[in-house]
Amino acid sequence: MTALLQPHDEKDPVAIKAPSEFPNSPLSQAFRQPLMLGVFLNLQDIRHSSYPTSNSWTYDYNVEIVKRAEALGFDLAFSRTQWLPKGGYDGEASLDSFIALAAMAGVTSRILLISTIHVLYGPWHPLHLAKFGATLDHISKGRWGINIVTGHRAVEHEMFGWQRIEHDQRYVLAAELFDVVERLWSEEENFSFKGISSWTVNNAFITPKPLFGRPVLVNATGSEAGIHFAARYSDIIFITSPGGAHIESALETLPEHIKRIKQAAKNVGRDIRTLINPIVISRDTERETQDYVDAIVAHRVPPEVKGFHSYDSDAHAWRGRQDTNHKQGLNLGGNIEIIGTPEQVVEQLVALKAIGIDGVQLNFYDFAKDLDYFGEKILPLLKQAGLRV
Ligand SMILES: Cc1cc2nc3c(=O)[nH]c(=O)nc-3n(C[C@H](O)[C@H](O)[C@H](O)COP(=O)(O)O)c2cc1C
Repeated sequence: MTALLQPHDEKDPVAIKAPSEFPNSPLSQAFRQPLMLGVFLNLQDIRHSSYPTSNSWTYDYNVEIVKRAEALGFDLAFSRTQWLPKGGYDGEASLDSFIALAAMAGVTSRILLISTIHVLYGPWHPLHLAKFGATLDHISKGRWGINIVTGHRAVEHEMFGWQRIEHDQRYVLAAELFDVVERLWSEEENFSFKGISSWTVNNAFITPKPLFGRPVLVNATGSEAGIHFAARYSDIIFITSPGGAHIESALETLPEHIKRIKQAAKNVGRDIRTLINPIVISRDTERETQDYVDAIVAHRVPPEVKGFHSYDSDAHAWRGRQDTNHKQGLNLGGNIEIIGTPEQVVEQLVALKAIGIDGVQLNFYDFAKDLDYFGEKILPLLKQAGLRV
């Protein structure tokens, strides 16, 4: 039997339940935090500076970071994936975040694990995404999710054997894909589908169904088309500061951006949480913090040495970085920079919360050392400030 899907429009109710509609889902638990805390893992060589750090792209290093974050009560761990040719990474190594975070599901018990997947590359067949996703959902007990990205660099699409798909069209194709994946996660009967994508499904069915409606869905975007997609499909949106990395620029430009995103979700009868990734650089005193920052900056690797910056990208999310009206920060690696003593860090996090940021996924210059410092010196103050319960 063939039941053809109609593309969603803004008037359609969303058929599938989100994990946040189940009060006992791991996502609902994370949403109860006034400010969600995440860790932004680097499963690839990142060299903003040659100032020594313990960081490593290896699975062993990163799984220890995730376990430590979980022990500190962090709500989520996330990692990016990039598909770059030889010489594209700061070093040569980059683990795939789908596989690495899936493996982490087996050795953790509470933290959400969000894998970045380029959902159009291949192309992925919806049955693969639905079946792999449902399997991981059961292994992780509802803690695993996808950061849906469509690929912004021409060179990545070319590696997969085609020319980059036009920016907004990528979201049209991703929407068709997720309409079918969601249908597979919820439909009690076989069904068939043919649309504009190159794949079709024929009498398809997936079991088991995910435990809490579906896995967690996230988007990293800043464009109109991406926000529209996120509003329709995602629980969380990873956002960028429209103005620049400096905290003042971020606090100035984010409120309008967040308002637009929240309104887009409201327009389709949904709610979406905003997450941003700051780098936190903190020591006990202003002097020590400044010394740490100065050391990182003094050893900074110039952009021209970092090959991947020269790849053509059509991403909208980072365009504000070219706007010289805003303070751009020190280019230390995070989307925004939170620098200061533990008290000053908490002040900046309180300010971000006040303008509508629902969570932060933290970068550190030295993950092992600085995450421990965060847990010891900053987390207790965050609790005192009412941002963590
Ligand atoms: C927090 C965050 C994480 C991201 N992670 C990835 C990633 O892992 N891989 C990738 O190709 N792009 C990643 N991106 C970039 C987005 O894919 C890129 O901005 C994309 O083009 C969508 O943006 P747009 O809709 O604003 O154009 C990330 C963006 C943000 C804000």
